[in-house]
Amino acid sequence: MKVLSVASEAYPLVKTGGLADVVGALPAALKPHGIEMTTFLPGYPGVVKVADAKPIHQWPNLLGGGEARLMSGNLAGHPLLVLDAPGMFAREGGLYAASTGGDWPDNWRRFAAFAYAAAEIANGAVKGFSFDLLHAHDWQAGLAPPYLRYAAAPVKSVMTVHNIAFQGQFGGDIFPYLDLPPEAWALNGVEYYGGVGYLKAGLEAADAITTVSPTYAREIIRPEFGMGLEGLVATRADSVFGIVNGIDPAVWNPQADPALAARYSADTLARRAENKRVVERAFALDEDDGPLFTVITRLTWQKGMDVLAGALDALVGMGGRLALLGSGDVALEQAFRAAADRHPSRIGVRIGYDEPLSHLLQGGADAIIIPSRFEPCGLTQLYGLAYGCVPIVARTGGLADTIIDANAAALAAGVATGIQFDGATHESLTYALRRATDLYANAARWRCIQQRGMGADFSWRTSGAAYAALYRSLIEA
Ligand code: ADP
Ligand code: GLC
Repeated sequence: MKVLSVASEAYPLVKTGGLADVVGALPAALKPHGIEMTTFLPGYPGVVKVADAKPIHQWPNLLGGGEARLMSGNLAGHPLLVLDAPGMFAREGGLYAASTGGDWPDNWRRFAAFAYAAAEIANGAVKGFSFDLLHAHDWQAGLAPPYLRYAAAPVKSVMTVHNIAFQGQFGGDIFPYLDLPPEAWALNGVEYYGGVGYLKAGLEAADAITTVSPTYAREIIRPEFGMGLEGLVATRADSVFGIVNGIDPAVWNPQADPALAARYSADTLARRAENKRVVERAFALDEDDGPLFTVITRLTWQKGMDVLAGALDALVGMGGRLALLGSGDVALEQAFRAAADRHPSRIGVRIGYDEPLSHLLQGGADAIIIPSRFEPCGLTQLYGLAYGCVPIVARTGGLADTIIDANAAALAAGVATGIQFDGATHESLTYALRRATDLYANAARWRCIQQRGMGADFSWRTSGAAYAALYRSLIEA
């Protein structure tokens, strides 16, 4: 079976968040199931650079965005296709926004053209390429299923929601430029409250919808989480599946991680102390025996970072320290910098994006705090489990599905892997930090939680099989 995976990011070529990790890992996860997955990416400068120089297909003026060429390449040994369209993708700055902030004004055209090309490729327009199914990720690929549908293409499609908060909504005035038939301008087409909704259109047209955890699949049919799309998701409930993300052991393995000062396994946890010292020095923190917390995240409301900022005095009061790595909202960056100024040597803040440092923090800190208001899956708690960095998480979405709270029953049964708390509020978070601090004080018990987490299987084995079974059921239907 051949599947075209259509996404705006893929690790290690281009990444702003968990989407990239998942898209980068899927081809290897599906290979054991007899599925050859080709990844299709926009030709950002860093992506075009690794592609072959010779185009395999050309569009003279793709959806009005100028000349576009299709290049091939490889993504960690798996097939890659790249849309080299310099007028739309060869620019410095962010993937979706200029470095000065503000979304690129032609995002509607960039990701319509990308989806249009994806549908054409999947539908056999490029000699030598054929696909049984197109797998679209998030709003940037959302128009691909409708393009297939309105072309009456015999290719099935899956739309995966990694985050329903980002929907790709644009004004109705773009519709004439999308090269869709007039009937697509409809409630069951691409129209959304008088505009065009890219994710909405994908959810409407895809043969199946998936999201990245079972709990989030249930949450998004409720107004608190559905962000306006809950009604549509509910009408398609029979075609909605929650498949939890896995982690890529080639990238996240404490026994072989080049970013760590000391590599270790569940049996050699004492070696983590060396990583901890390196973190303490890097963040200019006191070296003591108390718990060292970490946070590795986009600094946004979704991630509950305002709540965390409000709990830092309490964290320090409990004898804790924090090493935070993140970037995002300017006000939150300032709040964390101010906390570090208030508590020098107890709170260290690194504003920025640093992949190796994120590995070192997982391998050196004692616990990772994830107080998200919503979290479709979340990957940093899975990396925390694999690295013995105990996750302290809000009970929502994938965080609810992947962590076993250290309550009395779980501790007695020896199955606890972390700490969960209800709702991202000051009270619940500070209570969770207190529980963590108390548990940490009992070294044997803490080690047991770490080892249990490290033993949990969050490889792609199960989820790869789930995607493969879904693809097969659609193709055989
Ligand atoms: P989301 O995709 O919503 O941001 P996830 O937990 O799914 O959340 O994935 C976030 C990914 O980005 C993880 O791989 C995490 O390690 C990484 N990450 C987030 N912020 C940073 C940062 N400042 N530096 C390095 N890696 C980061
Ligand atoms: C999104 C979500 C995150 C998820 C990631 C990968 O960015 O916010 O929870 O882990 O996608 O699916």
